[in-house]
Order: sequence, then C-alpha cells, then structure tokens
Amino acid sequence: MSRKLKVGVVGAGAMGTSHVATLAAGVPSAQVTRVFDMDTARAKSVAEAVGGGASDSAEALIADPEVDAIVIASPDFTHADLAVAAIAAGKHVLCEKPLAVTAEDARRVVDAEVAAGRQFVQVGFNRRFDPGFVDLKGSIVDGSLGDVRLLHGIHRNASNTTSTDDATLVTGSMIHEFDTFRWLLDDEVVGIRVESPISEGFRDPQIATLWMAAGQMITAEVYCNAAYGYDVRVEVVGSGGSASLEPRTPVVRRIAGQGSSSIGSDFVAHFIESYRLELAAWADASLAGDVVGATAWDGYVANLVAASGVAALHSGAREAVDVPECPGLYT
Ligand SMILES: NC(=O)c1ccc[n+]([C@@H]2O[C@H](COP(=O)([O-])OP(=O)(O)OC[C@H]3O[C@@H](n4cnc5c(N)ncnc54)[C@H](O)[C@@H]3O)[C@@H](O)[C@H]2O)c1
Repeated sequence: MSRKLKVGVVGAGAMGTSHVATLAAGVPSAQVTRVFDMDTARAKSVAEAVGGGASDSAEALIADPEVDAIVIASPDFTHADLAVAAIAAGKHVLCEKPLAVTAEDARRVVDAEVAAGRQFVQVGFNRRFDPGFVDLKGSIVDGSLGDVRLLHGIHRNASNTTSTDDATLVTGSMIHEFDTFRWLLDDEVVGIRVESPISEGFRDPQIATLWMAAGQMITAEVYCNAAYGYDVRVEVVGSGGSASLEPRTPVVRRIAGQGSSSIGSDFVAHFIESYRLELAAWADASLAGDVVGATAWDGYVANLVAASGVAALHSGAREAVDVPECPGLYT
C-alpha cells in the first residue's frame, strides 16, 4: 500500500472540523493523526472520531513524529507564527486564508521559505479548486470571452463571526476576492478603492473597486451579515461575451403562482467539494515534496492588496498596491 500523509490539524472549529472529516472520508492519501485546539475536549472528540489523538499544544503537534504535515485552521492571527514554525520543522502546511493578518507577518512566512530554499506552504484559497471557478477561468484562458474588460464579484454571508469590523472584513473575507481576481486574470492589482454605504459602526457591506495592471476594472461587494444566506457570484465581461458563476439552485419550485429556490447559509456546504479537491491536491503534492495552489507569495500579495484596501476604506481615495519583485523561489 502506498504511504499516507500523516496530518496534524491546528484548530477544530468550523473549518478544522470540516477539514478533519473531509480528509478522513474523501482523501485516501491522508490520515489525520493529531488535532490541537485551545478547547482540549473539542480537539479530543474531533481527533478520536477519525482514529487520531489530541496534542497538548500547537508546538507539540508540529514537532510530533506522527505528524508529517500540518493544516492550520485556527484564528487568523495565529497563522503566520504557526506557518513559520512548521517551515522550521521542515513540514508541509495547508494554511487557511489569510496567510496572516498583516502583510508584514505574511512576508515573514515568505522569508522563512526563501531562507529554507524551498516551498512548504499552500494557502487555503479554496476557490482555485472549485469546479465552477476552474470552469470560469477556462473561459478566460481559452479566449472565448475576447478581451476581458470587467469583473463583478459578490460575496455575502448570512452572518459571520470572524469578520467583525471594518478591517477584518477586508483582511478576512474580501481577501478571497483579491486572490480570486489575481488568479482568474493571472495579473496583479495596482489600485484599490473601498467604500461603504454605512458611515458609523461596522461598515458592512463594503464595495471595492480594483484596477489590474493590464487595465481591467473590477467591482467586489462583500456583505458579511446579509441575513438571507451564503451567496458567492462572479461575472466576467469581455469584448466577445460574458460568463458568470451563479449560485447553485438545484430545484426551482413553482407553486400557487410563485416561483422559488432555496439559498443555503452554510459556506462549508457550499464549497465542500472545493475543500475536498484542495485537501487531496495538497496531500498528494506534500507526499511528493511539492506545493500546489496558492503559494505563500500569493498569500503575501493578497495581504498587500488587503492593506491598501483598509487604507482606502479610511482615506476614501484610490490607494496604490505596490508588489515588490517576486523571489525566484516562486517564479
Ligand atoms: N477557506 C475558507 O473558505 C474559510 C472559511 C471560513 C473560515 N476560514 C478560515 O479558517 C480559520 C478558522 O475559521 P473557523 O470559521 O473555523 O473559526 P472557528 O471560530 O469556528 O474556529 C476556530 C477554532 O480555533 C480554536 N483556537 C482559538 N485559538 C487557538 C489557538 N491559539 N490555537 C489553536 N486553536 C485555537 C478555537 O477554539 C476554535 O475551535 C480562520 O483563519 C478563517 O479565516 C476559511
């Protein structure tokens, strides 16, 4: 039998629990051996459900010989330090987005990989593995839309317990859009403006306008407390047509003169297949000593865009995004 990747998971909340279950049920090349969470009872029950055990600390989990590679699914502020520790231990990492809260912290992860002379980190920008997003990118790459001029993104949660203020809406939620746009267009963001119809308290929703290096413009609405459900859409508009990723609406009912379809509120359920494909690609690449998907550099650049986005929300002006030269490790 071929070797399995022994995985340790830090953080057993919504994402960590989902990742543990997906690795156990849907990724034959991986086996969850350890889980750590500040809530030790939770870590124990999540680990034992898949035949693993709880670790006493994140440091112990990273050092554990029963752990080949690490999934980081603890809160955003813990990501950079954990990723740097895993790199120091020579272990592959799937780090949930964002790579860090600040660009400076994300840069520490990049610098650690450059110093090590190899990549270890995949950032959990799962949309890169979502079949719908992959299909959408295909219609950009194959030229059927002509020259792409505009993108429009919508990202709404029914409610959100992790993006709870002006800045974390950008660094924790809108950061998905920043990576998605860079990846879809294979280009860099050069400018961003972020506005909100709300002037006091938590400024939710926010609308970003982004400018890409090749000239395309993008609008991105992120609404963390949209109440009605989870809703992610993107439309690409080109000189030859448009393509849009619509929400999944499996059944439309027409009853008593009314048409309706259901809208779920669970982001894990919405993107579950993308998480499975992401974890499977990560496990296979880690066993081969490779990194696929979004790299630490991609995570860092997304944090740079987010930093300019937060500055723009405060200034009300278009802010520049200056991406430094990419280290050779990532080119
Ligand atoms: N890729 C995606 O689509 C996606 C979606 C949601 C969340 N996320 C990211 O996943 C991460 C987890 O989010 P969540 O929704 O599961 O949050 P959550 O609040 O449900 O879970 C976080 C867990 O981390 C634990 N924890 C807190 N501090 C810790 C520490 N220092 N060390 C270890 N564990 C600690 C908590 O006890 C909790 O169980 C966040 O970084 C979030 O941004 C990604």
